[in-house]
Amino acid sequence: MEYKYLTQELRQKIDKYVQTFPVKEQVIIPALHLIYSKYRDIEFHHMEELAEYLQVPLSHIEGVISFYDMFRRKRKARHHIRLCKNLPCHIMGCKKLLELFEKITGEKANEESKNGRFYIETVECIGACSVAPAFMIDDDLYDGTKITEEKLYEILSKYT
Ligand code: FES
Repeated sequence: MEYKYLTQELRQKIDKYVQTFPVKEQVIIPALHLIYSKYRDIEFHHMEELAEYLQVPLSHIEGVISFYDMFRRKRKARHHIRLCKNLPCHIMGCKKLLELFEKITGEKANEESKNGRFYIETVECIGACSVAPAFMIDDDLYDGTKITEEKLYEILSKYT
């Protein structure tokens, strides 16, 4: 099979995981991270090629993607903000942080982006509870503990 999206570079990196993990299904998550980093999306054709390359059922890959928030299927804006709303982040003030995000961006969480620059999503734990309320912009993780409106404005202005 000729791979259009799973470039040779990606396949070489995936091969390293294949050599490391005894079961091919274990390679799905790291391989999806590689694809996501490259394309900023996981689309059906990416899944198809990965299933073919790893020789695993497509349904296994779809299952992983539907389980993990971090793999969005379709780009919703140029930048994806993920704001954790789980209990530790809730206690540490994620609601106020979300209000700041909505005020500065003019977007509403979990609603379609109006201008295509930011999509704000509230998610469950992103594994950064020590810096609760935690948030991510694309692949960048932020400590939300000392975020002021000015600071957030400054951060967001880096993402054009
Ligand atoms: S609970 Fe928010 S990052 Fe873990």
